[in-house]
Amino acid sequence: FLLIQLCIGAPIEMPKKRFPTAIIVGVKKAGTRALLEFLRLNPHVKAPGPEVHFFDKNFHKGLEWYREQMPLTTSDDVTIEKSPAYFHSKNAPERIKALNPNTKIIIVVRDPITRAISDYTQASSKRKRLGLMPSFEDMAVGDCAVWLKANCSSKVRGVNAGWGAIRIGVYHKHMKRWLEHFPFENIHLVDGEQLIKSPAHEVSATERFLGLKPTVKPSNFGVDPVKKFPCVRRSDGELHCLGKTKGRPHPDVRPEVLEMLKDFYVPENQKFFQMINRRFFWDS
Ligand code: A3P
Repeated sequence: FLLIQLCIGAPIEMPKKRFPTAIIVGVKKAGTRALLEFLRLNPHVKAPGPEVHFFDKNFHKGLEWYREQMPLTTSDDVTIEKSPAYFHSKNAPERIKALNPNTKIIIVVRDPITRAISDYTQASSKRKRLGLMPSFEDMAVGDCAVWLKANCSSKVRGVNAGWGAIRIGVYHKHMKRWLEHFPFENIHLVDGEQLIKSPAHEVSATERFLGLKPTVKPSNFGVDPVKKFPCVRRSDGELHCLGKTKGRPHPDVRPEVLEMLKDFYVPENQKFFQMINRRFFWDS
């Protein structure tokens, strides 16, 4: 690259580490890893490998530490960071705004019931083996005196609304904070269900939001024959799928518990749809 620039006499720009201009702030378990991996098909999208968690857990490490986590980029590139816990963090919106009020905010949302089951599945993947994890049903609607001592006052329409897996899915409560700090046109919502069914469509829309020429096409994807999730099709035709921690099988949930969750989430989702002036076609 440098050699070509030298040969054609173009000014040389040395790659350097820059703060992100766009952040995938959430929502946890809505498909944030898939979105980032698919965006990386665009050669101008650059991102650190692991989640940085600067604006929630690592803020005390300082801005230079944060910059150091970023990849080397030129001015043609877009640096993106993804830390899905920012969405429900009280401090993240204010802190991101203080660093750069023009930061582009990307939020992947999916049916909050599926999201809660996915969250539980992840949390239980270690603890269940040790026999320490109650069932999803017990956590979501069970006797809070037994499982959720701290949240006994938080039953809403029969659901343990104080349990993190449920609380994160009350999207309007978190979204309110983002809208208090960022103009709506700086926030891009990705439909996590469509990201599974039609990844190229969601990724192109995100490329456009980032100010990039869309390069990602349906031919860039194939479907995992076992998990049925989309995977990147490499130039040699091989499928590159996300790791074993993505696309885990979910536990069956009794229909009456799903109904209770639906009754709980429908009014919350309505508030979210009104807030963003858009609706998603979820079960709840
Ligand atoms: P499950 O593993 O519970 O099915 P995140 O990356 O935000 O943690 O989200 C993980 C979820 O993304 C997965 O949850 C899965 O449902 C969803 N997902 C979306 N696209 C996917 C893909 N291409 N491969 C695997 N999982 C995908």
